[in-house]
Amino acid sequence: MPLKIAVVVGSLRADSFNRQLAGALTRLPAADGHTFTFAEIGTLPLYDQDDDGDQAASVKALKALVAGSDGVLFVTAEYNRSIPGVLKNAIDHASRPYGQSAWAGKPAGVIGVSVGAIGTALAQQHLRNVLAYLDMPTLGAPEAFLQWKEGLLNPDGTVGEASAAFLDGWLEAFLKLVETHKG
Ligand code: FNR
Repeated sequence: MPLKIAVVVGSLRADSFNRQLAGALTRLPAADGHTFTFAEIGTLPLYDQDDDGDQAASVKALKALVAGSDGVLFVTAEYNRSIPGVLKNAIDHASRPYGQSAWAGKPAGVIGVSVGAIGTALAQQHLRNVLAYLDMPTLGAPEAFLQWKEGLLNPDGTVGEASAAFLDGWLEAFLKLVETHKG
């Protein structure tokens, strides 16, 4: 069944490794036939609860993307052993107004790459905590903690040979979770 996946990248950096990883994931064999749409979170204002009754166009666009998707793929950097503020800002925006969260019930996948040896493990754990509260069924296994190094991705932006089978299996497991919840 073709699935619609919203991709949320937890980094605004122009050459973000996580954005590159996200792009590479969408080119794996398991991605064939599915649609991946990248969310624009860099133009969101700082979340302010006073604006809940009059959300910015960029917030409405994010909510519409998530609402129209079967699942959400989070590909995040790790900042100071947690998720980047820009990602939390986006999550908070689309969770409001109270009772009108776009995230509720949407299956999620969590993955990331960092220059550090633990490969975003702590950021992912913090993100899982948030997603649990948002009632997002999240892929538990396999986990994927990636360290950025030469060869992880090929120069053409596809996943390198050493990680291709593993990441294809990871993506397949995530898409299976999404399909299960789509029913
Ligand atoms: C980092 N980095 C980092 N790496 C890591 O493995 N654990 C961490 O806690 C941190 N903390 C951290 C804080 C801040 C403010 C910055 C800017 C960076 C390094 C990080 O992995 C590296 O900058 C990556 O390139 C970030 O991902 P993108 O932006 O390339 O996707």
